[in-house]
Amino acid sequence: MCGIVGYIGAQEATPILLDGLARLEYRGYDSAGVAVYSDGALKVAKAKGRLQVLSDMLQGGAAIHGQVGIGHTRWATHGAPSDINSHPQVSRSGKIAVVHNGIIENYSALKQFLISQGVPFTSQTDTEVVAQLIEYFYDGDLLQAVGRVLHRIEGAYALGILCADTPDQLIAVRRDSPLILGVGEGENFLASDVTAIIKHTREVIYMEDGEVAVLTREGIQCYNHFLQPVEKEAAHVDWEIDAAEKGGYEHFMFKEIMEQPEALRRAIFPRIKDGQVYLEDFGLSDDYIRDIRKIYIVACGSSYHVGMVGKYNLERILRLPVEVALASEFRYREPIVDGHTLVIMISQSGETLDTMAALREAKRLGGKILSIVNVVGSSIARESDVVLYTWAGPEIAVATTKAYSTQLAVLDLLGLHFAQRLGTMGKEAYDQIVQEMLLLPAKMEQVLENREDIQYYASQYFNHDSVFYIGRNLDYALGLEGSLKLKEISYIHSEAYASGELKHGTISLIEEGTLVVALATYSRLFEKAMSNVVEVKSRGADVLALTTEPHRKEMGKIANGLITIPETHPMLLPSLGVVPLQLFAYYVALMRGCDIDKPRNLAKSVTVE
Ligand code: M6R
Repeated sequence: MCGIVGYIGAQEATPILLDGLARLEYRGYDSAGVAVYSDGALKVAKAKGRLQVLSDMLQGGAAIHGQVGIGHTRWATHGAPSDINSHPQVSRSGKIAVVHNGIIENYSALKQFLISQGVPFTSQTDTEVVAQLIEYFYDGDLLQAVGRVLHRIEGAYALGILCADTPDQLIAVRRDSPLILGVGEGENFLASDVTAIIKHTREVIYMEDGEVAVLTREGIQCYNHFLQPVEKEAAHVDWEIDAAEKGGYEHFMFKEIMEQPEALRRAIFPRIKDGQVYLEDFGLSDDYIRDIRKIYIVACGSSYHVGMVGKYNLERILRLPVEVALASEFRYREPIVDGHTLVIMISQSGETLDTMAALREAKRLGGKILSIVNVVGSSIARESDVVLYTWAGPEIAVATTKAYSTQLAVLDLLGLHFAQRLGTMGKEAYDQIVQEMLLLPAKMEQVLENREDIQYYASQYFNHDSVFYIGRNLDYALGLEGSLKLKEISYIHSEAYASGELKHGTISLIEEGTLVVALATYSRLFEKAMSNVVEVKSRGADVLALTTEPHRKEMGKIANGLITIPETHPMLLPSLGVVPLQLFAYYVALMRGCDIDKPRNLAKSVTVE
């Protein structure tokens, strides 16, 4: 969603801000802007549309000179996308500029109050209220004015604040919306995402909720909500900038699909030693694990689909009830959680607002929180009792791929760890799965090598306007992800159905030429999958089937198109099966000329409700 970057130092700020914003483009936005202190005043430039429009307006950064500034990419919530509603928003005198991610929930009441005090407003944004309110309280001490505002605003916010009277400082504020500080030499940064500043520094301070920071050229001082100083340590970010760049690939999504074997190696290999699963710094004792009565998996989007696979696998190997819940529903449904409930939150970004809210609700009810997260130091990671990182590296494309695969792998490892503690799995089965997990990256490489087949099928089907993904059990869970991948980047309407449900309604939609992607990787239910293929084919469907090598011949007799994956342990089939589905979505979107890395209306990290 929105992105923030701020700079104070000795270099020209505008090009640094534009470059930082470009690195945040992947998050999704509809307008962009910067405010830079230049020749004794704040100069603000904002434009609706792509960042390129702003960059052209600023001659790539050469149009405004100055060494301190803030920039923003906006994803509209309050007020339509427009030049005026773009950030930075400035106070009436033009002295105070604010960039903001999140939502100020009580902005309306505050705006009415300010209007009653004679303050004129120019935008429809909630953010302008913050800028105007700071100026309202400002009497020469910017930090104190910000402090007074923080006690009056409600909601979620990350703020970057610049004042023309104090151009030797930038102020950063964080509550329920990510914000990090970059520590440089003679220069410092603020950003909503490490990606924006990694080019300049890898020393990062993760701000906590309620914290305020004052950045000068020489250093950074953090404060708590009451403006009492707090000491913070910088953490070292150990991934390289190349990880967040395309490296010769046309799209981040394709690069990230291709990176999956390597990402799996990072997620799996260090966690298996001498044939045993070993989870680092794992804070759940064996006694606690034996005491678990129920597991919830709570997440959104693709992370929720990982949870769907996890439900089948964990219930099978742990013999414990596992419920998968959409985070956006969980928080409002009075879930039954107690001290014997383990709540697993899954999130790539670690910042998804619904997942975060569900986490807090589960915690309040007494559940233990284990999170599977990609972004180190993210809010969900920090508020969980136990964190298992996926180590997928930065994921830039809006459509998740390598995060999904590594989340699955980590959930499988967790299942194995629990099964061993609970004694619910025989040694032979355990050893076999561990062995297969070690082989997963190489088998995935084989799948990727066969991508030309998938490209061919994409060329056959890219102009369909409706697609069904069908499957049973693990294949159904896999279909949910395949369908989401296709629709989010190609804009083709697609639905995933549990095959057994077809005859309860959906089959009426199958007609001559309807594309059905039949998922039949799970050997135990292969015959049933075959019957469903026959069923839809006899109603005219064009069937593209996905199965394992051993079933190639049989499925090949009836499907119109066929993709195969290597055989593996059933529990791990979705990890291989998802790759052709990702590639299929990618190639279809490519052939339809879609903006693959930045699909319309979508944001990488959904930090509003
Ligand atoms: O960062 P999270 O894993 O919490 O994000 C959850 C969803 O927003 C995300 O998976 C979304 O569905 C992706 N666009 C799917 O590709």
